[in-house]
Amino acid sequence: MPYSKVFITRRLPTQLHRLEEVANVEVWPERQAPPYEVLLEKAKEIDGLLCLLTDQIDQQLIEVSKSLKVISQMAVGFDNIDILTATARRIPVGNTPGVLTDATADLTWALLMAAARRVVEADRFVRSHLWQTWEPDLLLGPDIAGATLGIVGFGRIGQAVARRAKGFNMRIIYTSKHKCKPELEQSLGVEFANFVSLLQTSDFVTIHTPLSAETYHLFGEAEFALMKQSAILINTARGAIVDPDALYQALRTGEIAGAAIDVTEPEPIPTDSPLLTVDNLIIIPHIGSASRPTREKMANMAIDNLIAGLRGERLPNCVNPEVYDVVDDK
Ligand code: DGY
Repeated sequence: MPYSKVFITRRLPTQLHRLEEVANVEVWPERQAPPYEVLLEKAKEIDGLLCLLTDQIDQQLIEVSKSLKVISQMAVGFDNIDILTATARRIPVGNTPGVLTDATADLTWALLMAAARRVVEADRFVRSHLWQTWEPDLLLGPDIAGATLGIVGFGRIGQAVARRAKGFNMRIIYTSKHKCKPELEQSLGVEFANFVSLLQTSDFVTIHTPLSAETYHLFGEAEFALMKQSAILINTARGAIVDPDALYQALRTGEIAGAAIDVTEPEPIPTDSPLLTVDNLIIIPHIGSASRPTREKMANMAIDNLIAGLRGERLPNCVNPEVYDVVDDK
């Protein structure tokens, strides 16, 4: 155990003492993620890996790492990790759910309000010296109170967004793989809707589903065609859930009124992306969980998972608990 080797793919916003007591820790010192080849070399010699959503933890990388006992991701999403291969190798994968729910829901709310009330456009307007007087029809947007909010994906973050929407007197509908219990629906003031009717009736659509083969480009040409022309799309989940070309066309042609996105495909967004030319889009750089206390909690949870994995204990937050079933069955 004292000889465990750990690689952390970026500097973390917390102290590492607890981890250093049980392992030799190497931290990648750069601002950019380690190149894949570097990660591959490190993987050959480590017992524990603490990674971020920017690291590609694929089949090859997991298979070269003969001594790897645990992969701990500092994020709730884990679409960058080949879970099937990790599970086949009985390597538990940890993530950091829960602690970032409110921060992400807050940012979703900030984007929804900024897009509705055209805050970013208005700021650009003033800085371009275009503000001449108070005008009855200057930078008008829709009302939030009384509007219908459609929530796609109703896990922790989707529900936290619903709680905020309730305070704004919105009608709230959601779609999800599973309809939730009537008591929860009642306490949040939400109604279940199928995806198509949610798209057709919502004034605001917000995405809170994980990225998977099923949700890849869930929003494309056909979905934008179903949405109201006055609708605004918010995405704080994963960029690849939305087809960027279809989003560009929908915004450019006025098929939807606007969008506000914290995530893009790819990340970072290429500097020549046509999306950067449309005024009715707000783009920010994947900062959903970026409050100081939240990031510190995420880092600490990732360390807890890592230490448990090195000790051969069950991870406090494990995305592939089947690894334990396999062991228990023996
Ligand atoms: C996550 O945790 O998956 C977010 O995208 C980053 O905090």
